[in-house]
Amino acid sequence: MNIILLGPPGAGKGTQASRLMAGRGMVQLSTGDMLRAAKNAGTPVGLKAKPIMESGGLVPDEIVSAIIGERLDMPDTLNGVIFDGYPRTARQAEQLDTLLAARGRTLDHVIELEVDEEALIDRITGRYTCAKCGEGYHDRYKLPKVAGVCDVCGSTHFNRRDDDNEATVRHRMAEYRAKTAPILPIYEARGLVARVDGMADIDVVTRAIEAILDGESRA
Ligand code: AP5
Repeated sequence: MNIILLGPPGAGKGTQASRLMAGRGMVQLSTGDMLRAAKNAGTPVGLKAKPIMESGGLVPDEIVSAIIGERLDMPDTLNGVIFDGYPRTARQAEQLDTLLAARGRTLDHVIELEVDEEALIDRITGRYTCAKCGEGYHDRYKLPKVAGVCDVCGSTHFNRRDDDNEATVRHRMAEYRAKTAPILPIYEARGLVARVDGMADIDVVTRAIEAILDGESRA
């Protein structure tokens, strides 16, 4: 099964993708994570992506679709893929169709996480992760049990994303409205779209997505 999680920055795509991955043996392909890894490694793609990501703009379609194409050639994707943050433009949606068709695969669901964008600003600007194990925290909603110490691995080092400041988040949201939301009708016409309330509790969102994947609901 191949699915797309669609929603603006902070909608919970990454959170839900990692839960689904753990439960279903599917692979999460996050173009944001892949681009950040390239940026941190200083690869040519990373160097090109760095200023674009830091401004909240979109990296060129050809670059992200090439990364996805390479990743789809790896055998762990045969069990199914959760696309997290891709496609983000009509061109990327076309490129994904081509990439899947060339490998004899199809798209099964597009799940839109419906959210209140203003509430997301708070979600994103307050978040940080453990530098060692990646556990996520939030300044107000999820603090470590012992201040400054990761609950999971005990590390005292934490990271915040360069693009999680309010000005950049607002630009990322504007990009979503202008370039990503318009791809929904393409998938709606193919009967692939289901909607989930992304403002609900994280477990409730996971259960709603699971129900869609299990064919119990088509919201
Ligand atoms: P990317 O990394 O994809 O960022 P994004 O889409 O802006 O999404 P986020 O990762 O910020 O949010 P999310 O929806 O995954 O939410 P999360 O689960 O983390 O992209 C970054 C940049 O890379 C882009 O701006 C662009 O430059 C570039 N890029 C990436 N892909 C590209 C592409 N295809 N084309 C071109 N450029 C591309 O949750 C957020 C927070 O909320 C967390 O703290 C979480 O714990 C919390 N939370 C989640 N769900 C809930 C809930 N239900 N209730 C309460 N809190 C919740």
